[in-house]
Amino acid sequence: MTSNNRLLSWVQEMTDLCQPDYVHWCDGSEEENQRFCSTLVQQGTFRKLNETLRPNSYLCLSDPEDVARVESRTFICSREQSDAGPTNNWRAPAEMKQELKQHYKGCMRGRTMYVIPFSMGPLGSRIAHIGIELTDSLYVVTNMRIMTRMGKAVLDVLGEGTFIPCLHSVGRPLLAGDKDVPWPCNAGNRYIVHFPEEKMIWSYGSGYGGNALLGKKCLALRIASVMAREGGWLAEHMLILGITNPAGEKKYVAAAFPSACGKTNLAMLIPTLPGWKVETVGDDIAWMKFGEDGRLYAINPEYGFFGVAPGTSMQSNCNAMKTIAGDTIFTNVALTPQGDVWWEGMSGAKPARLTSWLGKEWTPESNEPAAHPNARFTAPAGRCPCIDPQWEDPDGVPISAILFGGRRPSVIPLVHEAFDWRHGVFLGSVISSERTAAADGAVGAVRRDPFAMLPFCGYHMADYFAHWLCLGNRHDPAKLPRIYYVNWFRKNQDGKWLWPGYGENCRVLKWIFERCDGVDNAVQTPIGCVPAPDALDTTGLDISAADLKELFHVDRDQWLNEAAAIRSFYETFAARLPRQLVEELDALEARLRALS
Ligand code: OXD
Ligand code: MN
Repeated sequence: MTSNNRLLSWVQEMTDLCQPDYVHWCDGSEEENQRFCSTLVQQGTFRKLNETLRPNSYLCLSDPEDVARVESRTFICSREQSDAGPTNNWRAPAEMKQELKQHYKGCMRGRTMYVIPFSMGPLGSRIAHIGIELTDSLYVVTNMRIMTRMGKAVLDVLGEGTFIPCLHSVGRPLLAGDKDVPWPCNAGNRYIVHFPEEKMIWSYGSGYGGNALLGKKCLALRIASVMAREGGWLAEHMLILGITNPAGEKKYVAAAFPSACGKTNLAMLIPTLPGWKVETVGDDIAWMKFGEDGRLYAINPEYGFFGVAPGTSMQSNCNAMKTIAGDTIFTNVALTPQGDVWWEGMSGAKPARLTSWLGKEWTPESNEPAAHPNARFTAPAGRCPCIDPQWEDPDGVPISAILFGGRRPSVIPLVHEAFDWRHGVFLGSVISSERTAAADGAVGAVRRDPFAMLPFCGYHMADYFAHWLCLGNRHDPAKLPRIYYVNWFRKNQDGKWLWPGYGENCRVLKWIFERCDGVDNAVQTPIGCVPAPDALDTTGLDISAADLKELFHVDRDQWLNEAAAIRSFYETFAARLPRQLVEELDALEARLRALS
């Protein structure tokens, strides 16, 4: 299949280490995929869903111990600890390799090792990169086929070129007489390990999502962020959408939000304002490079959506629901008696009877949710009814605005605009959000998640800030995207949402669109520019003047507390924090204090 010597010898070396019974090179064909899905059904890993209700789709239930990314077991093994920074777990590369090799030794006995050649980004695009994942999980193979361009065509493009080696094992060898389980894993011994200097990934023990589909968080964010810094580009945890106004003019926007803050919903939004249209380029990751014209161009390196199922409904995201109407793998959702899927928030009325994600009988009286809160769908992007016509353009799409945001019930207004790029980098560096179920940890607590990259930056976060600042200095400010901070989640004193969100968010996008065209419809506040009175289009929206005022209220004392919280967060980075960010914080405080 290939004459790439580096690839052949690496596969041989890993085969000798992991000792699989067979090695299979995936060609990525439909025939191969159908065969793998049938095998997964026979093994009890997949359950085929009702072909009429949900064609060519499967349900998979994971081990209850293996349901999310494990940040506590995610490591950046740079040579120097200081290069991983205070927000990453670090271990010395040699020591980590030695420890992991003990685990990998013979770990694929009784199993097949699958070789998955995959491209992050359109095949052959100058922005794309190739990875090779070795895995003993067929679940991973079938998901990687949806999430990436995968198979023989990738080897053809690779030729003798370079690739990112990604080794994955569920860590559960099958010894003579062992009976396999539907979701093999080794939950007590999980490692998601990155070697940034070597550009290599080793993952062990987990079969779930970002822990195991190594093209996504491991390659396209952690390793790519290191490559981006070296090459003067950006690898970001951002959705990309195209927005067209009633006059037919189009702009592209990239937006970073921490996990499970509604990125997929925003990427597929259906505008409530007549004549406006939103189209999706990507829902999770953006790779952005400067073009010869000085503008920033973005591609979505992925080929599918690995979205959070609970909360997804015809009301919240009708385009996602249509995308997942077929050709989809569902993980940890509930099963209906008709052989279809269900999850909390999918429909108003709860079904009378279900099989829960734990495989147990479930009724509306049950105390546990039917679907796991981090249950997922894996669906081809090409199925999305609002996929952007340019989504596979190898040159990417030009970005006019970058949005940052998080879930904050108080303090942060619906939208504010950065004064300039440097202030925008400051806004990105202080993103904060309530924790959700996408990773392990206490749900609800507020955590700072700079650029929504805290769990995904492959090097020292302060150096990452410096990289963003440096790009701003190196490029024509007039051509850089404008930067905004949005918060759809502000509540009033009684705990009621002040903003309806979802399709109504197009009103905020419209204001941003106009700002990018130079419309003078903003007023300055100490924290940035907010829409001038009446500049936010609220036509047809049932919102009181008082609520609108509260949505944009900048409270001096609350913000002084916020600034103090930012200052203590910044202490995490000590002397490595770029001086410009401290200056931004000082200037924010001075502006706040000047408020009477
Ligand atoms: C994701 C995440 O799965 O951010 O996209 O956790
Ligand atoms: Mn994500």
